[in-house]
Amino acid sequence: MPLSRNNRRLAAAAAVLVPVAAAGAVTADYVDESHELQTRAALVTGGDPTAGQAKFIAYGCGSCHSLKNVRHAVGMVGPRLDGVALRAMIAGKLANNPGNLQHWIRDPQAVSPGTAMPDLNVGERDARDIAAFLYTRS
Ligand code: HEC
Repeated sequence: MPLSRNNRRLAAAAAVLVPVAAAGAVTADYVDESHELQTRAALVTGGDPTAGQAKFIAYGCGSCHSLKNVRHAVGMVGPRLDGVALRAMIAGKLANNPGNLQHWIRDPQAVSPGTAMPDLNVGERDARDIAAFLYTRS
């Protein structure tokens, strides 16, 4: 059966609306991104990003490292840690993956003897949480 004039109009409207709807979906994904980042960071590290933020401050990491929009993270001794999830290497020594990031946080002097980052006696659970937090930072 040939399309009626109305159906043709509907089809034309749909052709216009579908890309708009798709663009809407992209926007929605974008809005959701920080939540997704949190979930993914927690999954790959087994840590809790929210607890990690508090621990990052409590261990004094922020006296040497800066992070956007985190009070008490304004230090300039070490590199900025925003976007650390996107870096290939940790301190130029280790491939960047969740295990190595925790290893670095717990024992930087063993990884890179003499580095300006001190061993801070970070516990295993705390390193996990801090790593989870850092992986949420884009
Ligand atoms: C006394 C200063 C100081 C403190 C405190 C400190 N860091 Fe660092 N950190 C550094 C320096 C300097 C480097 C660069 C080390 C290198 O490349 O050898 C570094 C490197 C890093 C890196 C690797 C960054 C990259 O881009 O490769 C991470 C991740 C990191 N620190 C996390 C932490 C965390 C988490 C804490 C708190 C538990 C912390 N740091 C405490 C000085 C510090």
